[in-house]
Amino acid sequence: MAGDSKTAFLAGATEAAPGPAHAPPPVPAHVAIIMDGNGRWAARRGLPRAEGHRRGVEAVRRAVRAALDLGIAYLTVYSFSSENWRRPATEVADLMGLLRLFVRRDLADLDANGVRVRIIGEREGLPGDIAALLREAEERTARNTRLTLVVAFNYGGRQEIVRAARALARAVQEGRLAPEEIGLDTVAAALDTRDIPDPDLVIRTSGEQRVSNFLTWQTAYSEFVFIPDLWPDFDHAAFAAAVGEYQGRDRRFGGLGAQAR
Ligand code: IPE
Ligand code: IPE
Ligand code: MG
Repeated sequence: MAGDSKTAFLAGATEAAPGPAHAPPPVPAHVAIIMDGNGRWAARRGLPRAEGHRRGVEAVRRAVRAALDLGIAYLTVYSFSSENWRRPATEVADLMGLLRLFVRRDLADLDANGVRVRIIGEREGLPGDIAALLREAEERTARNTRLTLVVAFNYGGRQEIVRAARALARAVQEGRLAPEEIGLDTVAAALDTRDIPDPDLVIRTSGEQRVSNFLTWQTAYSEFVFIPDLWPDFDHAAFAAAVGEYQGRDRRFGGLGAQAR
């Protein structure tokens, strides 16, 4: 059950304190990435922004390989935000085109490597063929267990919470749920990420230090690592370095943490 998996994850997270001195700290179970800087990467080279996005897809492939190598169970990539519709129509079309290409070209490979694909975000209002491709990607890889690749597409954290609030309100209106029954687990189970643990580590590239409407609810206790590299330059070493920084952090979850234990 969704509520149970959330609870199990929280129990795991609090137990993730450093063990004996020789045991390396655990790798994060869930790494979420705000892939930023494609446009600047291109601009620095006098190239069109679309070329930056194209090279950004290559960086996504590297990130998936790195996650598999590092033994990370969940990798979320922020690929199109609810607010990215504010960009010129041509750029929006380029980004939609790249998603199509990514699913068509990479799905078989992802499947062969045991990657389960999950999409979060608003499906309504997307071009029909994109909605169908997203469904195909999820269905084809549903039984894979090595890595879950969560693609945040047409995603906004606040919009997700609004959709969850509506679903809960509907359940109350229809008599399936009492208002007093709404708690942390109920809300978490109404989000797109109902079966996905909260991110342990959020990485943002390009030097920007903001959240930009990413996983608003889920990042309440995530560790953040901001790196100056532009997304098309992101590689295995950058991923491993961010994980290393995470492993040096003392996660306290409001308690007293490792020093006090
Ligand atoms: C990230 O790169 C990709 C998306 C947001 C879709 P940007 O396109 O935001 O690149 P910059 O921030 O303009 O450099
Ligand atoms: C965040 O990057 C969204 C994605 C990476 C998909 P943006 O480039 O859209 O964020 P802002 O506008 O700089 O905050
Ligand atoms: Mg940007």
